[in-house]
Amino acid sequence: MSLAGKQVVLGVTGGIAVYKAVDIVSRLRKMGAIVHVIMTESAARFVTPLTFQEMSANPVVVSMWGEMKQWNVEHIALATMADVFLVAPATANIIGKIANGIADDMLSTTVMATKAPVIFAPAMNTQMYCNPIVQKNIQELTLLGYQFIEPARGLLACGTEGVGRLPDPCDIVNFVVDHVAAENDFAGKNLLVTAGGTREAIDPVRYIGNRSSGKMGYAIAAQAARRGAKVILVSGATGLSHPPNVTVVKVESAAEMREEVLKNFFSCDIVVKAAAVADYRPEVAEMQKIKKNDDTLILKLTKNPDILRELGQIKERQLLVGFAAETQNVVNYAKKKLNEKNLDMIVANDVTAPGAGFNVDTNIAKLLFRDGKIVDLPQMPKEKLACCILDYIRELVTNRT
Ligand code: PMT
Repeated sequence: MSLAGKQVVLGVTGGIAVYKAVDIVSRLRKMGAIVHVIMTESAARFVTPLTFQEMSANPVVVSMWGEMKQWNVEHIALATMADVFLVAPATANIIGKIANGIADDMLSTTVMATKAPVIFAPAMNTQMYCNPIVQKNIQELTLLGYQFIEPARGLLACGTEGVGRLPDPCDIVNFVVDHVAAENDFAGKNLLVTAGGTREAIDPVRYIGNRSSGKMGYAIAAQAARRGAKVILVSGATGLSHPPNVTVVKVESAAEMREEVLKNFFSCDIVVKAAAVADYRPEVAEMQKIKKNDDTLILKLTKNPDILRELGQIKERQLLVGFAAETQNVVNYAKKKLNEKNLDMIVANDVTAPGAGFNVDTNIAKLLFRDGKIVDLPQMPKEKLACCILDYIRELVTNRT
């Protein structure tokens, strides 16, 4: 795989690792990429723009106010031209600016104006990297579809040892190559994803709900859109922002989710049901707020439709992927759901394991297939798991055709 003909915009921010970015330019060019470099003022204090100009064979932009180079409105031109945008090294400052919508120099305005995938390679002191503010910014950007390359561990320029080193330029370039390869592998595919928990009304102010944050389903929707799919996300209540290039349909109850899913099902190629759908709802949703007159209150519950089971019964060409939220006998229960709901694949998670399941940023999953294959995945961020799930879905789609 190469980057032949790809327009790569490299943003270089001010840190001691700037010198490694020179090697990144050289390696990108050896892979066939056309490289344009934007430096921050601080980066230009570590290594001169001239070095990057010579290495990239293109003008280097530092200021928004300098003499015009070859573009009309530089930040827009570079933003539009980019096939992929890499920021390496990425300081806490640039990550914080983008996460908070601040565009006050050439690099931040261009990143903000681009529709190209953006990859950050953070490099900074360990304490800075571990600072909850930096981690929160990384998390928020990740949920919006920005990619991050994990910094390496080792001896840092400040003399401390820990996480925060810019990874080897070779690893960074390989990440970009893999990213570009996966960029359009879902082009032409219509994906329907469900996420979040449903709310079943008891009265106008109360409901039966569950702990789903929507993070798992939103990550799948964001990654699928990034990989070229046309994505509809049917979402229960969540506090998450809409992922870019995804059509989001908000619902409350299981009945509303079922209606939206069925409305879109036959125009879909792939369905991934990550939502936590309530199995029961109050038989009657009171029109007025229930008064607390008695010491006890008995709610009669009635079964909700099992949306996924219904899809399994009516499916034609659609590839159907379910989730199984289990607290025991994970594999056995998941296998049962795979078969009974006529699924092509099921993602089983033990929702009692630390770092897995509801309302956390990571998950631990087993993928089960109809031929009996089981893939045991370690704990990883939900965005990474979303990518793995999509890789296996792509394999299933390819094997079908
Ligand atoms: O949202 P997060 O906080 O990120 O948490 C992620 C998650 C734990 C919600 C997710 O990883 C997960 O496990 N989702 C499935 C939750 C669930 O309802 O599992 P289940 O085993 O009860 O249901 C099995 C499958 O049937 C699921 O795909 C579910 O969407 C579907 N189902 C269930 C009941 C129902 N009435 N209709 C359905 O379609």
